[in-house]
Amino acid sequence: MALFYSIWLLFLARFCIAQSDESDEIDTVGLNAANEVYNEIFNVRGYNRFLSPIYTRKTNSSGGLKTAKLNIHFDLWYIKLISLDAQSQMLSICLELRTYWRDSRLAWNESQFDGVEHIFVYSDAVWLPDNQIGNAKTIDSVKPADAQRLVQIFSNGSIYYPGFYYTEVACPIMISTFPFDKQICPIPIMSLAFDVNSVALTASIDPFLTMYTKPEYINAVAREVSNNEYFAVLTKAFIEWGNGEWDVTNVSTFGTVQAGVQMVRFKSQLRKKT
Ligand SMILES: *[C@@H]1O[C@H](CO)[C@@H](O)[C@H](O)[C@H]1NC(C)=O
Ligand SMILES: *[C@@H]1O[C@H](CO)[C@@H](O)[C@H](O)[C@H]1NC(C)=O
Ligand SMILES: *[C@@H]1O[C@H](CO)[C@@H](O)[C@H](O)[C@H]1NC(C)=O
Ligand SMILES: *[C@@H]1O[C@H](CO)[C@@H](O)[C@H](O)[C@H]1NC(C)=O
Repeated sequence: MALFYSIWLLFLARFCIAQSDESDEIDTVGLNAANEVYNEIFNVRGYNRFLSPIYTRKTNSSGGLKTAKLNIHFDLWYIKLISLDAQSQMLSICLELRTYWRDSRLAWNESQFDGVEHIFVYSDAVWLPDNQIGNAKTIDSVKPADAQRLVQIFSNGSIYYPGFYYTEVACPIMISTFPFDKQICPIPIMSLAFDVNSVALTASIDPFLTMYTKPEYINAVAREVSNNEYFAVLTKAFIEWGNGEWDVTNVSTFGTVQAGVQMVRFKSQLRKKT
């Protein structure tokens, strides 16, 4: 996994350089205000992470029902094929998915909290959607040992949840394309508890994913950071999506509803290296 972390850190470092404040003095006013936001949500309001923001209620005596529907968006930010095994028809892949949704119980008024726009809390403090990768044999969350995941909460109640996964999913090998030199492997994401009336799932491929594998971009990055040893290792081979056997030629996304369950799929097209 060292490879993935390196890539991660590389880009992380890049953003931090671009965005960080020059001063690293502690802004006591801001920190206190952020603490007040936390206190407001989790202590004053008694936010309950065990309760989902999705519910249904009867709106009138003749049984009219109203469901508070949740929009969940998945942004694919990184993908790396580990292997595709023809015998077991299993695709092993690393994915970085950024998940966004909104929980109105977590919103606050910025002007009442010294302008605090967002805070980060450990992910176990908030309710998380139950979305799963479908057809998966294994899903491992990739993170440093003992590290907890964080979520970013914005003042409008929007939540950003980044996750890095290693997964093994079924990929039906297409016999028609014998000698199996091209394959399409869909990676489905669905909710187990919520049907299409309760959640709306959408997905996108982050422009960053396609951008940073373009030679122009790689060369630009390499030039820009030529004095920095951390960036010196960035080469095309290093950040390819495929493995020694397969190239990932395209990743696209589409949504379907099957038996009342909504799914989004990331469809990866693979081509055997010649
Ligand atoms: C009850 O609510 C449902 C759905 O909101 C609506 O279609 C229906 O007309 C309502 N019935 C009455 C009697 O208001
Ligand atoms: C936010 O708080 C400010 C100051 O108390 C108030 O003027 C404003 O109306 C509030 N905004 C909302 C959307 O409640
Ligand atoms: C909430 O605020 C964030 C950050 O400004 C923004 O990216 C997001 O789209 C907003 N969400 C909604 C539902 O307006
Ligand atoms: C990638 O796949 C999508 C959906 O199948 C298609 O619309 C798009 O043109 C493809 N892009 C390339 C570069 O092949």
